[in-house]
Amino acid sequence: MVANKLFDKSITELIKKRLSVRTYIEQPLTAEVKETLRGFVSNLKGPFGGTVRFELIERDLALKESKAKLGTYGVISGATTYVVAVVEKANKDLEDFGYCLEKVILYATSLGLGTCWLGGTFKKGEFAKAIGQKDHEILPCITPIGYPSQKRGLIDSAMRFVAGSKNRKAWEELFFSGDFSHGLSESEAGKYVTPLEMIRLAPSASNKQPWRIVKDTNKTHFYLQHTKGYAKMLAYDLQRVDMGIAMCHFDLTMKELGIEGKWHISAPASISTPQDTEYIVSWVEVINTMN
Ligand SMILES: Cc1cc2nc3c(=O)[nH]c(=O)nc-3n(C[C@H](O)[C@H](O)[C@H](O)COP(=O)(O)O)c2cc1C
Repeated sequence: MVANKLFDKSITELIKKRLSVRTYIEQPLTAEVKETLRGFVSNLKGPFGGTVRFELIERDLALKESKAKLGTYGVISGATTYVVAVVEKANKDLEDFGYCLEKVILYATSLGLGTCWLGGTFKKGEFAKAIGQKDHEILPCITPIGYPSQKRGLIDSAMRFVAGSKNRKAWEELFFSGDFSHGLSESEAGKYVTPLEMIRLAPSASNKQPWRIVKDTNKTHFYLQHTKGYAKMLAYDLQRVDMGIAMCHFDLTMKELGIEGKWHISAPASISTPQDTEYIVSWVEVINTMN
């Protein structure tokens, strides 16, 4: 049963449909689409309480108004518009950022638009100029937004090949039961099978898929398995953004299924964590005793 439909399509359908689009038709968004998008992004809050400020930035207008030369080192072709976002510096700011921008990306998918998370291959200073980034804000990622081209460009195909974009890790590598020594099979997951599968299908930086989940009675613990040396290569730890994306997929799917719960930070002392793995948050199901 679909209890809480956020968009006009089901969230699982949108998650399955979304993929990184790097080749666009050189055609501006219609005024109606821009207005719809601006309405959607106007008031988004992350699960940790951070507010993300979004702007729809048009390449040609940005050059005229703020002399910003928006560029993606040739990775994106044909895009005329970008969703640029900043979040206030705070604890768990990158997770909140990932959660909110992924919500926008799924909304754009529901409108038939293409997007592509960019955390490395974009000229950060130019996009910062275009959105007027303040000292207390960070700008970890952006996405182009537009009409996908039928034919993928050469760089697009190469990027997909290098990242192995169409592959995802197997269930047993990502999901655990009780602690990290017991894998959680799809049949054991019960009503959690779809929300967990939606995490598995999430996009992640370089397709590293760093999320690890331990399911324990009514609690679902989210852990981040850091890829060694990855965060040091980049201005921000993009794997924390990946975690926010996974939380978004899980949360929206739970809402759609009508399963109630809350985010809560309380590391379970009984679960020993593997090397390079960090506890982030738990999702606690609210068991309705009135039923
Ligand atoms: C936080 C984040 C940052 C990313 N940064 C880039 C980037 O800088 N350049 C790029 O071409 N793709 C980037 N990607 C896209 C990933 O490579 C892509 O999501 C992954 O390979 C899975 O492919 P899919 O999105 O088509 O499912 C990023 C993805 C995420 C989630």
